[in-house]
Amino acid sequence: MQTFQTLLAKRLVDALAKAGFPNVGELTQATDSRFGDYQTNAALILGKQRGENPRDVGAKILERLDVSDLSESPTVAGAGFINFTLRADAVAKKAAELFADERLGVARSASPKKIVIDFGSPNVAKPMHVGHIRSTALGDALARIATFIGHDVIRDNHIGDWGTQFGMVIWGWKNLLDREALQRDPLAEIVRVYKETNARSTSDPAVREACRQELVKLQSGDKENTGIWNECVALSMQDFEHVYELLDIHYDIQCGESFYDDRLAGVVDRLLKSKIAEVSEGAVVVFFRGVPELADKPCIIRKSDGGFNYATSDIATVEYRINELTRDTLWYVVGAPQTLHFRQIFEIARREGYKADFRHIPFGNVLGEDRKLMKTRSGENVPLRQLLEEACVRARKIVEEKNPGLTEAEKIDIARTIGIGAVKYADLSQYRMTDYIFSWDKMLALQGNTAPYLQNAYVRIRSIFRKAGESAPKTDKFILNESAEITLAKRLCQFAEIVPQVLNDFRPNILANYLFELADGFHAFYEACPVLRSDEPVRGSRLALCDLTGRILQRGLDLLGIKVPEKM
Ligand code: ARG
Repeated sequence: MQTFQTLLAKRLVDALAKAGFPNVGELTQATDSRFGDYQTNAALILGKQRGENPRDVGAKILERLDVSDLSESPTVAGAGFINFTLRADAVAKKAAELFADERLGVARSASPKKIVIDFGSPNVAKPMHVGHIRSTALGDALARIATFIGHDVIRDNHIGDWGTQFGMVIWGWKNLLDREALQRDPLAEIVRVYKETNARSTSDPAVREACRQELVKLQSGDKENTGIWNECVALSMQDFEHVYELLDIHYDIQCGESFYDDRLAGVVDRLLKSKIAEVSEGAVVVFFRGVPELADKPCIIRKSDGGFNYATSDIATVEYRINELTRDTLWYVVGAPQTLHFRQIFEIARREGYKADFRHIPFGNVLGEDRKLMKTRSGENVPLRQLLEEACVRARKIVEEKNPGLTEAEKIDIARTIGIGAVKYADLSQYRMTDYIFSWDKMLALQGNTAPYLQNAYVRIRSIFRKAGESAPKTDKFILNESAEITLAKRLCQFAEIVPQVLNDFRPNILANYLFELADGFHAFYEACPVLRSDEPVRGSRLALCDLTGRILQRGLDLLGIKVPEKM
């Protein structure tokens, strides 16, 4: 099924060709609905190119443009924009097509990619904190959307489970561990031990040396140290799993840094042999002479003490993903502070001849109400698990107020749907680079651009059908007379245009904002147009509009990883 945008764009291309113009400009959704539903800047661009008045060029295009079945007569406005206003009967026809389509109009990609999405990727021996919500929610949403569009997606959790910190973790485990505390809250005890060891090793060179020894033993396969390491990883993973369960996040593979350990020596040899890397002051280094922004930023892939780096394991990871997972597209959903790291990795991969499409998808910070990085009162990172549990508790209060008659099981379930949805939506509805303030009151509000508002719109639709005593409308003939009906139906038709747009610059916030406007459009329709009280065939048409709105809200939120309740 074609969207109005693609249909109109094709007609425009035809008209430009007929008028003897090159194919220029874009056809987009209108930026201001007062001027219509779609617009193109083609005449503006041609006017500039040809030194003619864009309005005259626009008139020439209009002479050749045949859109009479889709749009009221298009007009040239302002400096030379051509505006289109969809015809109500065309919208009704399209709505009926959408209604019959399980995919709600969203086309499958004509060129499916084989993507690996590296997201979440927390570090062992540290709890997941509020900052991890960004990579986790964003990566999951992108994975859902890419999959829906027809790409082949592998979701990979690149856990930080290897590296120099384990020298300290193991020394601390042997010297400071409180077994009882470990029983009570394993990750908290590992973190305590790690922190204390870290503090001691800063002030006491003997401890520092002892930690180094433990690390060397681990790296050379010492049995006892490997056992401790294994246990730490397993305990951390249990904590992560709990968070993933709450968030409803799934991974296809979890190849952490340790997975690549036995490949690192090979990586260094290979890069030395191909002269991409060189020995410098005892270390093995890649210099990026000739790349202006990296010229003074060499990348060390083997330290002078023989140890490998984060970068070394990422180079091994690239090779694995391309050669063994046969991926052609690599997405890394990792915070903005690692921008330089990924530039270096991608440049090295390019030098090695890898042709894949590499994307670092960075994001900003989560701030506290004081506009500083969100921390607990004692200055620690806020553990994500605790935060998500609090979200459910707070959402429970909303459920109690709105609908005290629900059963206990329903309340638990709905509170979780609302609470977790609110946290994810607060994140995904922001442009990813924008730092945002984490505010319970804002994200849980029933009004405004929030998950509970969208979920409530869905619930309202479900309750219409409960009242009607029908689960799904029978008619699929849309009769659009009232302006609120037409506006809503037009919005519904835009879903298929919005979903693929998200991947252009990895912005789920575009979809979030679309859903918010859709919910607004639904409320306006619901105020203006009686549904159950109107007569057939209008009643059936309005029920079908409700149903389609509900399905798009549900699907759209699902693409963001957010569930909808049937009641709330
Ligand atoms: N564990 C890293 C961190 O917390 C993120 C890993 C991102 N992925 C990667 N391939 N480097 O900073």
